[in-house]
Amino acid sequence: MRIKIKKILKSDESIVGKKVKVCGWIKTIREQKSFAFIEINDGSSLANLQAIIESSNDDFRKVLEISIGASVCLDGETVKSPGKNQKFELKIDKITIIGLSTEDYPLQKKRHSFEYLRTISHLRCRTNMGGAVTRVRNSLVYHSHKFFQDRDFLYIQTPIITASDTEGAGELFRVTTLDDLKKDPKEDFFKKATFLTVSGQLNAEAFACSMSDVYVFSPTFRAENSHTSRHLAEFWMLEPEIAFADLKDDINLASDYIKYMAKVALDENEDDLAFFDKFIEKGLIDRLKHVVDSPFEVITYTEAIKILEKSDQKFEFKVKWGSDLQSEHERYLTEKHFNKPTVVIDYPKDLKAFYMKDNEDGKTVAAMDILVPKIGEIVGGSQREDNFDLLKQKIQNKNLDLETYKWYLDLRKYGSVPHAGFGVGFERLIQFVTGIENIRDVIPFYRAAGAADF
Ligand code: 4AD
Ligand code: MG
Repeated sequence: MRIKIKKILKSDESIVGKKVKVCGWIKTIREQKSFAFIEINDGSSLANLQAIIESSNDDFRKVLEISIGASVCLDGETVKSPGKNQKFELKIDKITIIGLSTEDYPLQKKRHSFEYLRTISHLRCRTNMGGAVTRVRNSLVYHSHKFFQDRDFLYIQTPIITASDTEGAGELFRVTTLDDLKKDPKEDFFKKATFLTVSGQLNAEAFACSMSDVYVFSPTFRAENSHTSRHLAEFWMLEPEIAFADLKDDINLASDYIKYMAKVALDENEDDLAFFDKFIEKGLIDRLKHVVDSPFEVITYTEAIKILEKSDQKFEFKVKWGSDLQSEHERYLTEKHFNKPTVVIDYPKDLKAFYMKDNEDGKTVAAMDILVPKIGEIVGGSQREDNFDLLKQKIQNKNLDLETYKWYLDLRKYGSVPHAGFGVGFERLIQFVTGIENIRDVIPFYRAAGAADF
């Protein structure tokens, strides 16, 4: 019966002498006179399985046919490895060639640049880097569900096609069947203009105001023409929404979640993190342990501005109360000033979306962004305006169409409750736990301005 390579490598001594079958792709072949070494990987672990075949074996001739990238199944016996790189190896009885590869296989045995690998997204998961990212991503998805399910949150599926611009930033992809966009949207498929969603939040609020605690985990889309290392046009967002809750509850939940994710990566992906620590960011493991162990800093936007004004760092963008924090400002605060995740709260209301609750000062809203070293903003959230009249006024102040938000206002009409929520950019979270600098390298197939291959 087939067994995954990880099972063999992580096994105890009882595996020695067992007959097993492994299937995977060839990473290296070393041929000698009397035997050959084959390294094979099936995606289950960073480490390859080393397999040996004696020249006296009938299948030895097959070693000449196969090359790097070919798929094979190997039947054999697990033995103790005399080498120091692995505990066990496979003594091959039989080789079954499944699919041959060719000489122009694009992943020869050397380290390839991230730029090159982006041109072969369909094969990049075959590299150590691509495999490690894929496994970490999988753990974080699985344990995100576990984190919320263990706390009795319900998982809600919100629509991808929507008529509302949740964030009001105008970064929408239009969805249409019209052949001419100058035509009246009333002639369009939905009899109105529709878009790909930028966030599932508004729909999630409807469920929070009935089911209490919910979360959405979904692709989101933003037509931002930014070519930065932290923006994608299609990315995954995880959005919890909690009822009978204020900004403090929101911050606590978000901080617990980020810490939990750092711990999951450390516990579940030890080998992959050791690999990132060695090749991507020296000290990554210590950095994540520090995230798990120490409380996040919480400061107001106004305090943040004061810190930035006092700093002797030269910023490209001017620091001024009322202007948005740029990535360089965010990074200064979290990397240089505090050197840990930093929660900035109470932003000026003009900088934030219409749904955020006004603070008593009349100038700021109950918003919170979590900033982390190397990336900047990783979480954006707020307490929501739960007063009908105030929310209606805010919709009108931002020149949004009242008709579109009528259903959303209903939530404040029938048993309104204080509620709050946040969105985590899932790819930014993966960057955070792997140390990988460019967001394009942590999603299986990236979509960004000017790039939607594969
Ligand atoms: O701060 P944002 O825009 O907040 C919202 O959309 C809220 N509706 C969330 C909520 O309260 N439920 O986006 C949330 C997070 C950001 O902090 C960032 O991590 C990520 O989504 N994000 C992006 N990630 C990759 N590429 C982009 N273009 C992103 N835009 C935002
Ligand atoms: Mg934001």
